[in-house]
Amino acid sequence: MPNKIWRVVDLLDWTSGYFEQHGISNPRLDAEVLLGHLLNKSRLQLYLHFEMPVFQKHLMPFRELIKKRIEHTPVSYLTNRKEFLSLDFYVDERVLIPRPETEQLVETVLATKMDTPQRLLELGTGSGVIATSLAVHQPEWNIVATDMSEPALAVAEKNAETHACTAQITFMSGDLFEPIKQIDNPEQTQFDWIVCNPPYVKNVERDSLSPDVRDYEPEIALFAGDDGLAVIRRLIAEAPQYLAPNGKLLFEIGDTQSDPVSDLINAEPAYCACELLKDYAEKDRLVLASVSSEHSPA
Ligand SMILES: C[S@@+](CC[C@H](N)C(=O)[O-])C[C@H]1O[C@@H](n2cnc3c(N)ncnc32)[C@H](O)[C@@H]1O
Repeated sequence: MPNKIWRVVDLLDWTSGYFEQHGISNPRLDAEVLLGHLLNKSRLQLYLHFEMPVFQKHLMPFRELIKKRIEHTPVSYLTNRKEFLSLDFYVDERVLIPRPETEQLVETVLATKMDTPQRLLELGTGSGVIATSLAVHQPEWNIVATDMSEPALAVAEKNAETHACTAQITFMSGDLFEPIKQIDNPEQTQFDWIVCNPPYVKNVERDSLSPDVRDYEPEIALFAGDDGLAVIRRLIAEAPQYLAPNGKLLFEIGDTQSDPVSDLINAEPAYCACELLKDYAEKDRLVLASVSSEHSPA
C-alpha cells in the first residue's frame, strides 16, 4: 500500500483490486467488511463517508488484515463475527464458521407445529449458533448441546451468554451420545428433537476445498472418513435410543449424500418416516427422520 493520504473510497478501490489479483473470491465485499470492522462502521456508513480520510493508526492494522486475508484467513476469523438468522455470533479458529444453509435447519424446527415446549439435543454445536438461535426463539424449550471439542464448547458458551440463554442450554462435552449416557435421570435422556450439522466431507475431498476452509477451519468440524458418512452413520444408528415417542432427527448432509443416507435410514427399523429437504440452491441438504408415537427409546 503506497504512502499517501487515503480516503475510504481509495482504500476500498485499492484493496479490492489487490484482493482480486490474489484470487480472493469476493474482493469488494471483503474489503468493505474488513475496513468497516476496523473503523467500527457498517458497509452503508462506509459509503456515506466515502471521502473521509483514514489515518495511520487505522492504516497499520488494516495492512495486517489485508495481509492475512491474502493468505486466505477467512474474513469471519479476522472480524470474529458471523451473522446467523439475524443474530450476531462470535467466531474464531476454534469453530466452523456457520453457513447460511444451516439457518434452514433452525427454520425447519421452528416451522414445525408443536403444542408443548420441546426438549432438544444438538450434537456438534460448534459456535452454538443452532442451539442459541433456537433458545432465543423458543425460551420455554430445554436444550442440551454437545461437542467433542472443548475449545468449540468454550465459544458456544460465550455465544449463549451474549444472547442470555445460558440458563436454557446445558453444554456437555464428548463423542456424539456419550455425554447423554452420563445423565442419571432417564427422563432427561429422551428428546423430542435431535438436531445436528455433522462433519460430512470425505477425506479425499480435502484438496478440492478452498484454502479458506481447508487451511483454517477445524478438521474435526469438516472431515468424516473416506465416504464422509462416519459421523452420520452413527447418528442414524444411535439416535432412536434417545428419541421420545414422535421424536424427530434432523440433520444436514452434503449435496451428494442423499441416496446413501436415505438407505441408512430405511435400513433402521426404528424410523417410521424420512423426508429430504432441499436448500435454496435446490440441493438435498437436510434429512428429517421421525419415530412413531409407539416408539420406545431404550
Ligand atoms: C460442521 S460443524 C457444525 C458446527 C455448528 N453446529 C454449525 O452448524 O455451525 C461439526 C461440529 O461437530 C463437532 N464434532 C465432530 N465430530 C464429533 C463427534 N464425534 N461428537 C461430537 N461432536 C463432534 C465438531 O467439533 C464441530 O464443532
